[in-house]
Parts: sequence; C-alpha cells; structure tokens
Amino acid sequence: MTKAATPTIAKGLAGVYSDVTHISKVFEETNTLTYFGYPVQELAAHCRFEEVAYLLWHGELPTAEQLKEFEEQERAEREISPQLMTVLKQFRKEAHPMDTLRTAVSFLGVEDPEAAIISKPSNLRKSLKMLAKIPTIVAADFRLQRGLEPIAPRKDLSMSENFFHMYFGEVPDPKVVRCFDASLTFYAEHGFNASTFTARTIVSSLSDIYAAVTGAIGSLKGPLHGGANEAVMHMLLEIGEVEKAQAWIDDALANKKLVMGFGHRVYRNGDSRVPYMTKYFHDMAEIKDGKKWVEIENILSKTFIEQKGIHPNLDFPVGPAYYLMGFDIPVFTPIFVISRITGWTAHVMEQLEHNKLMRPLSVYEGVPQRPVQPIGERKAA
Ligand code: COA
Repeated sequence: MTKAATPTIAKGLAGVYSDVTHISKVFEETNTLTYFGYPVQELAAHCRFEEVAYLLWHGELPTAEQLKEFEEQERAEREISPQLMTVLKQFRKEAHPMDTLRTAVSFLGVEDPEAAIISKPSNLRKSLKMLAKIPTIVAADFRLQRGLEPIAPRKDLSMSENFFHMYFGEVPDPKVVRCFDASLTFYAEHGFNASTFTARTIVSSLSDIYAAVTGAIGSLKGPLHGGANEAVMHMLLEIGEVEKAQAWIDDALANKKLVMGFGHRVYRNGDSRVPYMTKYFHDMAEIKDGKKWVEIENILSKTFIEQKGIHPNLDFPVGPAYYLMGFDIPVFTPIFVISRITGWTAHVMEQLEHNKLMRPLSVYEGVPQRPVQPIGERKAA
C-alpha cells in the first residue's frame, strides 16, 4: 500500500491566499498601502479619519454632503448607556484596557436587540455605533481607572478632537490632533492580518458583528500584533538615554532578542506607512520636547536595518508619538482599536457578501487509535 503524500503545512498561514478582497492592497511596485486604490499617505494628508471610515465602508470617499450626514450620525451615537458605564465602574483598576474594552464591546452586543441580524444595513448601523462609542469607552475607562470622573463626549468636535477632550478634558494644538488623526488613518486597515482574519473567521459561521469585533480585539492585543505599539514604548523607556541605545541594540542582536516595532509578515523592504508616520512623530518630538526618542529610534533603526535587513513597522513611530501626546502606554492598543474598528467591520461585511465557513485542516501527529481502558485497569502515564 502506498503512503499518502504528506500535505504541505503553511505555519501561520504564511503565503496562503484564503479569499479575494476589494478593500486594501499593498502595491509592491511602489511599496504603497492603498484603501480602495487611494495611497494611505495621501488619505492621511488630505482627509480626516471620518472620511477614511466612510471610504472603508462604502468604497468611495464621501462628498461634502455625505460627510456631513455621516458625521451627524456618528456624533449622535457617541454617548454610552448608564448600564455600560456601570459595567465599566465594576472593572478591577489594574485590568488591562484591552481586556476592559473587549468586555465593553461584547456588552454593546448584549444591549442591541438586533445583534443577531447580519444584513448589510444592520451591520453598517452597528459599525457606526461601535466607531462612535469605542472612543467614549476607552476614555471613560482610562479616567475611571485613575479615579477621575468620565467626561461626556461633545458633538461639536471631530472624532480625534473629541477623544482628546474626553481623555484629558481639553483639545490640544491642532498639530497634535493632526498627528493623532493621521495615525488613525494609517492604522485603519491592512488586509488579512491576524485580528481581521479573526473577525472574518468569526462571522464565517454567521455569528454576529459584535462577536467578530470582540474576538478581533482579543487578537490585536498580542505583542506580535497591535500590542507592539505599547511594547515599543516600554523598550524605549528601558533604553532611557541616547548614550545607551547603541549598546542596547548591539546586545539585542548578539542575543537574538526580538526587538519590538521591527519586522512584518507582508513588507520585506520596509513598511510603506513608516516614513510618513515618522514625519508626524518628529512633529510631536518638536512640539513636546521629545528629541531624545527620535535619536534613540534612529540608532536602533539604522543598526537593525544594516545588521539584519529588517525594517521598522508602523508601531515604531506610533508608540513614542502617543507617549509624547501624553497617553498612558496601556491605552496605545485601545487607540489602535478606535481606528481598526473600521477595517474589521468592512471585512466582516465583505466576508458575509460571499461567505464560506472557515475550516482549514491539520496534520495529525498524535498517538494512533487505541481502546479506552476501564478506570480500574489504567496505569499512570
Ligand atoms: N526582532 C528580531 N528578529 C526578528 C524580528 C524582530 N522584530 N522580526 C523578525 N525577526 C527575525 C526572526 O527571528 C527570523 O529570524 P530567523 O530566520 O533567524 O529565525 C526572521 O527575522 C524572520 O522572521 P519571522 O518571525 O519568520 O517573520 P514573521 O513574518 O513570522 O514575523 C512579526 C513577523 C511581525 C511577527 C515579527 O517580525 C515580530 O515578531 N516583530 C516584532 C513584533 C512587532 O513589532 N509586531 C508588530 C507587527 S506590525
């Protein structure tokens, strides 16, 4: 009898195409990430994040009229219910904000009597609701953890301005808001990354969009994915001084340490978003007296590229930019969620248009089939 050929295993699904998408693509010729064909750096330069959210859900940038209507709808949804606020107040003060956010988004699903309806209009409505409420949850949770009163959202502010208002109680210099808003655009969407694939997998069973986003938040939390923006800042604080940076990176290389904020599954010649986000980070360093973080990053990046040929990813400039804006480090990944909710929900809707249940195979390497022994006859292994 001939032995069946061993199937090829694609660990981490590397190199596997599991579906088509119309939402985003990295064009290799120009090394550019595009959303519905638009280069992300052009979107960051010319559009507010709200326009990008609209683009990801509708496939086209909004006209002035469409944007006005979209913003009115988003601003009308910013408040969270007293019941959800009570839930936030129950959380352990030391709980990670990604865990509290995951629970709060799941609660939004519990609150919605139409949670189980998975039609496109219903999912668009729920996506808008999550887009509007997640910043309120993140800011309120942060303030409650610090023993501060949550600050109610304002309807006269853009999403980015309003987030600063709810978090700090004031809206900063427009340059700071610009940098934050651009980071949201860069973070909004990136193909079949782990959290987006998680969201698509969850709805592939015809489960609901709240379940998909709850699962995606769990996936994004990990330091190999969204959690890297926090890890980058912890690393920079550990290095602390410009004079220590070279020795630190030499030691990391000698000991084959994983250096956070470097490497990417898709980009091999550098993350296309990095040069643009780095400019915004440098603006922040200028405004907030943070030049030392720029110098430390320059040393790490130059050495790592020269020695390993591995380039920084988006989290590398974003981590210190958020730090200079004054955000607490554990809130960095929840800010990523404030943005990526757009990409996740766009993918959920796309998945449901031509759905096929996700169900890959595995190669079994466990023990051969064997009979169950009655308990009295079993020997300890
Ligand atoms: N630090 C040190 N070495 C790294 C590295 C990093 N940040 N990223 C990749 N490498 C090395 C790997 O150790 C591996 O070396 P080897 O072939 O000698 O074993 C090689 O580069 C290939 O990396 P691999 O882990 O196979 O690539 P991947 O596509 O599976 O991983 C990441 C991509 C993002 C998971 C990986 O680069 C990483 O862990 N980066 C740090 C976390 C991070 O910044 N995540 C945010 C991603 S946007």
